[in-house]
Amino acid sequence: MHKNTTKEIKMTIFVVFWTIMIVATATSNPIDQSPKAVGKWAESLRREKLTKLHFFCHHLHGATAVSIAKAPTTDASPTLFGLLDTRDDPVTVGPEKSSERVGYAQGISAAASLQEISSFDPFTILFTNREFNGSTLAVMGSCPLSSPACEAAVIGGSGFFRLARGVLTTKAYYLNFTTGAASVEINAMLLHY
Ligand SMILES: *[C@@H]1O[C@H](CO)[C@@H](O)[C@H](O)[C@H]1NC(C)=O
Ligand SMILES: *[C@@H]1O[C@H](CO)[C@@H](O)[C@H](O)[C@H]1NC(C)=O
Repeated sequence: MHKNTTKEIKMTIFVVFWTIMIVATATSNPIDQSPKAVGKWAESLRREKLTKLHFFCHHLHGATAVSIAKAPTTDASPTLFGLLDTRDDPVTVGPEKSSERVGYAQGISAAASLQEISSFDPFTILFTNREFNGSTLAVMGSCPLSSPACEAAVIGGSGFFRLARGVLTTKAYYLNFTTGAASVEINAMLLHY
């Protein structure tokens, strides 16, 4: 009886110790970019991971997104063809803009369709939260304004998401054409190492 209790206590200490070690490793600071660490990461390339992320992106025309160029013909175009915007939209965990910020979506949007109003969006999601701080995802896709949901390709990544590939699905959560404000719900499915 006494012997078993001692064993149990030892076992508990062991489990607690490893839990602390795992948590400490998972929440440790920026990813190590030394040649040794990158070499070690390269060794691990056989173990691909699937990560699913869910977040919201907030767009406000005139504030987090501004027009930077247009063609001489853009104003006469029913699809605004040739209009170019740049953006730095905050990314948050919840649908409210005031919810916890996890990063920024930085890139450009080009009105690139003659058939309908559609934006071609190459952008970087730059994470600033503790878990993925400094890591990025490179996204590219086109989204017609008339479409309630879009799918875009994740064509790369850095830091935690090195060599990432995957898809982002985006869905309008809030849209106000008067104020130029929009919130977009994003789901990401990522394969990376
Ligand atoms: C992210 O990294 C930057 C630069 O290293 C640092 O200043 C900042 O405090 C970090 N943020 C978090 C949430 O860890
Ligand atoms: C858009 O914003 C304007 C100005 O704040 C507001 O009056 C209007 O109700 C909003 N429309 C929608 C659909 O939220």
